[in-house]
Amino acid sequence: MDRAEMRKKVEEVTSLPTLPGSVTRITRMLDDSDITTSEVGREIEKDQVFSAKVLKLVNSGFYGFSQPISTIQHAMVLLGFEVAKTLILSTSVLDMMSKSMTGLWPHSLACARTCVIIARYLDLDDPEEVSVTGLLHDLGKVVLEAHVNDVFEVVVEVMEDRNILFYEAEIEVMEINHATVGGWLLQKWQLPGKIVEPVMYHHDFHPSRTHAVRTGIVHLADILVRAEGFGSGGDRRIPVVSEAAMEAMELRQDDLQEIMDEMMEDMRGVIR
Ligand SMILES: [Fe+2]
Ligand SMILES: [Fe+2]
Repeated sequence: MDRAEMRKKVEEVTSLPTLPGSVTRITRMLDDSDITTSEVGREIEKDQVFSAKVLKLVNSGFYGFSQPISTIQHAMVLLGFEVAKTLILSTSVLDMMSKSMTGLWPHSLACARTCVIIARYLDLDDPEEVSVTGLLHDLGKVVLEAHVNDVFEVVVEVMEDRNILFYEAEIEVMEINHATVGGWLLQKWQLPGKIVEPVMYHHDFHPSRTHAVRTGIVHLADILVRAEGFGSGGDRRIPVVSEAAMEAMELRQDDLQEIMDEMMEDMRGVIR
């Protein structure tokens, strides 16, 4: 199957997940500067299933609260708008991801947390927004497994037979990898380029792209969490960190050590 055929196939899947209407509405509310946390909270509470999911994620250990959070209002106050936005988006993919490949959800959570650590280390303005790209980076794997399962199984076979990386096997079988597929999905959800691009190119870094630093962060975070064995991306080998990505982020070897230490500290007792 070639690239064009594959894209057609992915786009043709009528059940390709779309963001539920309530999510789009709430995300829009959060962009309005006059809105209050209790108004947003009330909107979320209107949808009981959705509220339950939000609370589940808030209490999953991801946000590091020591006490359980039992109301949406409380969660909104504690998290603030920016975090709430990513939380709402994350909630919508949680189900999809936790039902998919074993280890993918903890891998994605760990990657998201590591993105925050790297983004803070680099003094970026919006670490929470970078975290959402970490959370979504392997979403394409979920789409492949759920919607083109025959192809997905061949990929797994090739990967195991030849002991190569998941994305290398994907390229051999279908000329594209899950990063591209994930990017297509996020484009369909009309998410901004600063979220789409890092997902789309996390296995194919190039410094000339618009969101190169954010892409570099996801690329590096993905590899660090694999190296430390947090969850699983589906394969056993660990990719090499792109030198161009390190340069774009202006990171050196000793910076990596510091980031790794912070990551281990942050992840202690949360994800494994
Ligand atoms: Fe990936
Ligand atoms: Fe990954």
